Amino acid sequence: MRHNMDTMSKEHDRKLHIRTWGCQMNVYDSARMADVLCRHGYSLTDNPAEADLVILNTCNIREKASEKVFSELGRLRRHKIERTKAGLKQIIAVAGCVAQAEGGELLRRMPFVDLVLGTQTYHRLPEMIAEVEAHARPVVSTDFPVEDKFDALPEENRAAGPSAFLAIQEGCNNFCTYCVVPYTRGAEYARPALQVLKEAKRLVASGTRELTLLGQNVNAWRAEGTDGAEWPFSRLLSALAEIPELERIRYMTSHPTSLTDDLIEIHAHEPKLMPFLHLPAQSGSDTILAAMNRGYARTQYMEAILRLREKNPDMALSSDFIVGFPGETDADFEQTMALVRDIGYAQAYSFKFSPRPGTPAALMEGQLPENIKDERLQALQELITSHQAAFNAPFAGRIIPVLLDGHGNQPGQLHGRSPWMQAVHVEAPDSLFGNIVNVLVARAGRNSLTGTFVKG
Ligand code: 5AD
Ligand code: SF4
Repeated sequence: MRHNMDTMSKEHDRKLHIRTWGCQMNVYDSARMADVLCRHGYSLTDNPAEADLVILNTCNIREKASEKVFSELGRLRRHKIERTKAGLKQIIAVAGCVAQAEGGELLRRMPFVDLVLGTQTYHRLPEMIAEVEAHARPVVSTDFPVEDKFDALPEENRAAGPSAFLAIQEGCNNFCTYCVVPYTRGAEYARPALQVLKEAKRLVASGTRELTLLGQNVNAWRAEGTDGAEWPFSRLLSALAEIPELERIRYMTSHPTSLTDDLIEIHAHEPKLMPFLHLPAQSGSDTILAAMNRGYARTQYMEAILRLREKNPDMALSSDFIVGFPGETDADFEQTMALVRDIGYAQAYSFKFSPRPGTPAALMEGQLPENIKDERLQALQELITSHQAAFNAPFAGRIIPVLLDGHGNQPGQLHGRSPWMQAVHVEAPDSLFGNIVNVLVARAGRNSLTGTFVKG
């Protein structure tokens, strides 16, 4: 009997290594994949060499992101050879957007890969792994199945920690001319409110205090409400705010054209909704915005932000920018710099345009040389950094509420986030991990704040 039990636990104790690149949606998807597989006897390991199953959850938003995946695959191949020599098996799976975009082509380039699974099929992982094992041949699954992957997943068993992601929407119908997302994540799909609320309540019951609702076009969420009527995104936010132990709600990524008045209104009066909005502008030039197919002009973006700030002057703003889009002149770029100056972002990300195969912008005339992209990126990043420093500076000496959701290197050091999304390093007893505490800010740097826990 004892012997049997040992054999059983060995059979079921398989090791899983997951590496994740890219956006928060991938972080969420990886957690769910781990969830599914832990129910099938896998436990997580940080070491790919000892893993029976390695999953790379990949990103191909820019060329650099997909290059990283291919160099990691090169390293993994060596681990797999070593393991094979030692008589051990290893399944290598590529998931996410590179898998979706490359499909079977990936196997031709990387024949030691066993499983290629797109962004919509990870709920089928256990059966796909069984198929690889049974037939000793690779499996590719990159279709967009009719069943909803969220619905098809078992209820998660993860305790996700004080701050957790919750995917409420996936895919995008906007077809910005530079972007692969509509192809790799498919058409927009919004999860019904009941599903979202159930998952939120489970996470909160496991200790989560802050939820970040995720979606490629999150504020376009519109789906069936708990009363059977169609709800707009703002109604979902109100329903989530009614969960008593949930203290903070965030959402990303928003599209400027879906920043509706009801959403602006709820930012004015719902205290659980954090005063921070990531609203990518991408460019400040109307010519470039039109070529990008963003669906708004510079003034519309500015006006939406003005309306938001009028209702809630405390809002901190964030954005994404692309420099060196095909045809971008010095004057166009100057418009982007001017927009950044006019708005005064609390933080922002900027990227060099990367032509992605299959997107219209990759074939546009007026592709710019690398050196111009580099110069513009540097200038924009310097400007953004100075704004970030200016946003943070007045926080020195203030007492602010911080959700402590990370551990520092030393005992007594914790990390957290302010309501405005600033990273905060805090001197506080470890027992306070997971709580929202008051912190007296001693120093305000460009990228983070530092302070001490204060009572009261
Ligand atoms: N090149 C450069 N940046 C891109 N992004 C999306 N596609 C590209 C591309 N082809 C940026 C956008 C988006 C962010 C997630 O990545 O700014 O908001
Ligand atoms: Fe890509 Fe545009 Fe959709 Fe954002 S809105 S995911 S940039 S296509």
